Amino acid sequence: MRFKGRTALVSGGAGAIGRAIALRFADEGANVAILDINADAVGKLVDEIRSRGVLAHGSVVDVRDYAAVKACVDAAAEALGGIDIVVNAAGGSARKRMDLFERIDISVVDDVVDINLRGTLYVIHAALPHLIRKNYGKIINISSIIAIGGKAKCVDYAAAKGGIIAATRSLAIELGRHNINVNALSPGQVQRPDEMPADPVAFAHRHSLMNRICTQEDVAHAVMFLASSDADYMTGQNYVIDGGRSLGLRGDS
Ligand SMILES: NC(=O)c1ccc[n+]([C@@H]2O[C@H](COP(=O)([O-])OP(=O)(O)OC[C@H]3O[C@@H](n4cnc5c(N)ncnc54)[C@H](O)[C@@H]3O)[C@@H](O)[C@H]2O)c1
Repeated sequence: MRFKGRTALVSGGAGAIGRAIALRFADEGANVAILDINADAVGKLVDEIRSRGVLAHGSVVDVRDYAAVKACVDAAAEALGGIDIVVNAAGGSARKRMDLFERIDISVVDDVVDINLRGTLYVIHAALPHLIRKNYGKIINISSIIAIGGKAKCVDYAAAKGGIIAATRSLAIELGRHNINVNALSPGQVQRPDEMPADPVAFAHRHSLMNRICTQEDVAHAVMFLASSDADYMTGQNYVIDGGRSLGLRGDS
């Protein structure tokens, strides 16, 4: 129960990774606020969080709308007694709409950059007065190894996630004096429960050096660590969770 008495706000909390993070915070005693555009999933998740014995507040919001984000963050803080921890997990790549940059529809570029980067900045900007008031805070931004290594058909996503890492560093420089830590996490391929590959071990070997696929819980573990007092002296960093994939040459094993 290391987060008892704390409130964690999770954007994209109704998604695969955000949900694992939100439930883990609840299991560790935190009250949890969810910001997500998916109304059905927000409602169900709020019930699930409450069933674990903590307070929950759900907001259905598009993170690209600053006024709405601000109103939802303020409402969550009012309902839950402030905000201590902010996790930005709303986002994702263009998925079926992704394409080579020379022919991608520019509206896709707008969407991906706006949701991932502008949305992250909006949530942090809206939450900061609440953190500064407490002279305490942990901000954890979900980026991606694509920001570091690059990937074809992901120029928009790489740019947005790279922007998140850059913003993380500058925010850490500004916010250390308020006792606020800001870090980024860059997962590699995280397997969605609804999209399990036919051969998980072969898939894992393609996407990491390990014998298993990265799970949402692997990301949640790292979030818990960065949100905890164990990471009080760590700020402005980007931590890669990719089972060693970005190390490069694998040898012939
Ligand atoms: N899944 C992976 O392999 C992987 C790898 C690296 C990084 N990431 C990042 O992790 C984060 C979570 O990804 P996921 O795999 O859980 O995806 P997901 O699609 O399951 O979750 C994303 C959540 O964001 C919400 N969202 C989307 N647009 C929104 C908007 N405009 N306003 C508010 N909420 C919005 C969705 O409703 C969804 O609940 C994303 O930022 C993604 O880029 C994922």
